[in-house]
Amino acid sequence: MTARLNKSQASERIDKLRVLINDYRYHYHVLDESIMSEAAADSLKHELSQLETDYPELITPDSPTQRVAGTASPEFTSVKHSSRMLSLNDVFDEEEVRAWQARVAKLVPDDAKVEYFTDVKMDGLACALHYQDGILQRGITRGDGFVGEDVTANIRTIDSIPLRLRASDEYAGLLQGATEIRGEIVMYKADFEALNAQRATEGKPLFANPRNTAAGTIRQLDPKLVASRPLHFRAYDLRRDDPSEVPTHAYAYQALRGLGFLAHVNAKVLPTVEAVMEFVRVWETKRQDLPFNTDGLVIKVNDRRLYERLGVVGKAPRAAVAFKYAAEQATTKVKDIFVSIGRTGAATPVAMLEPVVIAGSTVQMATLHNESEVLRKDIRVGDTVIVHKAGDIIPEVVEPLVSLRDGSEKPFVMPTHCPECNTKLAKINAKDAAWRCPNEACPSRSWKRIEHFASKAALDIEGLGEKNVIALLTAGLINDQADIFVLTKEAVLGLDRFAEISTSKLIAAIQSTKQPTLARFLYGLGIRHIGVQTAIDLANHFRTLDTLSEAQIDELGAVEGIGDVVAESVVEWFAEPLNQKLLQKFHAHGVQPEVVKQVGGKLSGQNFVVTGHLDSMSRDEAAEKIRALGGVFQSSVGKDTDYLVVGGNVGASKLKKAEKFGTKQISEADLLAILG
Ligand code: IVH
Repeated sequence: MTARLNKSQASERIDKLRVLINDYRYHYHVLDESIMSEAAADSLKHELSQLETDYPELITPDSPTQRVAGTASPEFTSVKHSSRMLSLNDVFDEEEVRAWQARVAKLVPDDAKVEYFTDVKMDGLACALHYQDGILQRGITRGDGFVGEDVTANIRTIDSIPLRLRASDEYAGLLQGATEIRGEIVMYKADFEALNAQRATEGKPLFANPRNTAAGTIRQLDPKLVASRPLHFRAYDLRRDDPSEVPTHAYAYQALRGLGFLAHVNAKVLPTVEAVMEFVRVWETKRQDLPFNTDGLVIKVNDRRLYERLGVVGKAPRAAVAFKYAAEQATTKVKDIFVSIGRTGAATPVAMLEPVVIAGSTVQMATLHNESEVLRKDIRVGDTVIVHKAGDIIPEVVEPLVSLRDGSEKPFVMPTHCPECNTKLAKINAKDAAWRCPNEACPSRSWKRIEHFASKAALDIEGLGEKNVIALLTAGLINDQADIFVLTKEAVLGLDRFAEISTSKLIAAIQSTKQPTLARFLYGLGIRHIGVQTAIDLANHFRTLDTLSEAQIDELGAVEGIGDVVAESVVEWFAEPLNQKLLQKFHAHGVQPEVVKQVGGKLSGQNFVVTGHLDSMSRDEAAEKIRALGGVFQSSVGKDTDYLVVGGNVGASKLKKAEKFGTKQISEADLLAILG
C-alpha cells in the first residue's frame, strides 16, 4: 500500500496497527460491538502482516497475526470434535477458481469426472450436532476446530434444530447409530434489525451485526435468554461412521432435508468451472435477498470419497474453497485533499488516495462530499482511512483511523476561492451544504458541462470525452455546449490531439446529433436534480422544449415523480439569462430537440412501470420499446400508471403502490406480448 518504510518507521506503524486491531477484536468478540467493518479490519491485518513479512524480526508472539482463532471458553465444558472442524481457503476470482480446479485435477485419478457442489456461505457460527439413534445428544461450537464448547442447553432452544430426527423411510439408516450434523447458526437480517430497534427503544447498546449477536447469544450462560432470541440452524454437512453411506454432498443435503433440517434448496451440483462461475455471478446479487448474511460461496468436490482422498493442507480441505465476493471496504492513506468544481459549480473536496483495490477495482480518489462532512469526520491529509465502494457508486471515505496518526497529518482547510478561476466561493442558500463557484464561465464548470452534454446518456457524442473537451476549450474553439455544433474540421485539425480520421469522425458525430430526443437534450443540459429518468418524465409530459421552458412550479409539480426541489430547479434554470442565451445559440446552430409524439403509437396514452429484473432485455431497452410504440415509461407507480411489469427480485414498495392504485400487474411475458 505505502512506500516501503524503514525499520523504525515500520516498528512504530506495527505498534499502532496492533493496538487498533486488538481493539477491534476486543470490541467485536467481547463487547459484541463493531468499531469498523470486518473488511476494513482485514485490510489493516493485511498491512500488518505485510510489514511483518518485510521485517520478520518485529514479529512478537502477541501480534494479532499470530493468533489461533477461537479458544474454548472456560464457562462451558470443552468437548473434542469427532473430526476436526476445518476452515476453507479463500479464492477471489475466476483465475483462482481455475487454479484450485487445476490442483484438484492433478490429484484425482484420470477417470474420475469431478463435479462441484456449490452453496452460499452463511455468515454465522459453525456448530456440530450429535445424534444417537435419532435423538439429539449434544451441540458443540467450533472452538479451535479440535475442541469446542458444549452448548447443548442453548442450542436446544433453536426451533430449526430437531431434538429427534424426522422419521423417514428413505433415510431410515441414518436414524440408527451415530449421526453428526454440521451447520451454521445464523440470525436473520430482519430479526437482527428488529432486535436492535427494540434495544434502541429500551436505551440498551446496539449489537454490531447478526453473526456477532448469534455468537454472543449461543455463548450466554442462560438458555432462557437464548430462547428469547430468534436463531436458526442451517445445515451443510452430514457425517456417519461409515462414510460410504453419504456418497455425495448433494445426497447429504437431500438427506438433511429428509431428516428435518433446513439445507439450502438452491445449493447445486455443477459440472464445470464455467457453470460454477455462472453460479457465482447469479448469487452475487441474489444473495442479498436471502434472509441471512452471506460472505461468499462454498465450492466443494461433490463426490465425498474424492473429497476425503484429496486430504487437508493446513486448516483447510484441498477439495473445497470459499469464493469471497470482493470486499467493499479497505484501508489506505490520504495523500492529498483537493477541491473539484462540478458543472453546477459545487466545490467538492476529493481525497487523493494511495491506490487500493476495493471490490475488484483500483481506487485512487474518493469523494468527501462537502466541507462540513470533512470537518465532521475530521479527515486529514496523511490519515489512514477506511474507504467504501459498492457497485458503481463513487468511492467514499468512511472515517479516519485516528489512533494511527503520528502527528504529521494536516487538517483540511476549505479554500475561500475557486481553485480554477479564483472567484470567491459562495453558498447559494442557507440550506446548501456545498460551497459553489458562482462564476458561470469558470473553466472547470464549462468543461464538465460540455463533457456531460456529450456523455453517453445525454447526446452520446463519441470522441468528445474529458481530454478532447479540455483541448477544444483551451484552444478557444468552444466556450459552451452550443459551440460544438459550429466546429469545423479545419479548425480542429490544427490542434495537437486531433488526427485526420478521428476529426472527421468527431465532426460527423456532432452533426448527427442535431435532432436529439428531448429527454436526452434535457438531461444533457445538466440542470441540477435532472437525472435520466426525470428528463424522460419531463419530456413525455411537456413534449416540447418551449412548453417546458415556460412551465411554472405548480405545473411541474403536477407531473408524476416531480417534486418541489426538481420543479424549482427547472424554473430557475430556464429563468437564468445565460441559459436563455445558450438555448438561443442552440437554435441558431440548428439544434432542434425532437417533439415528443404522443399520438399514433399503439401504446399511446398508456403508462408503464417496470419493477425488478427482466430476463429478455434491460430496463432501458424496455423503456425504449415502450416509448417507440407511443407509451410512457414511468419511474414510479402513480395514479395514472396503467401497467406494472413485475420482473424477478421485485421490491415491495412498487407492488404495494400498485395495489393501492389498483394498477394492473403483468409479467415479462405479458409485456413481450404487448410489445409484439
Ligand atoms: S461446507 C471445511 N457449507 O464456513 C468446512 N461451510 O470457512 C466446509 N460455512 O466452518 C464446510 N456456510 O462454518 C460449508 N454452505 C456452507 C457454509 C459453510 C458457512 C462455514 C462453516 C465452515 C466455514 C469454513
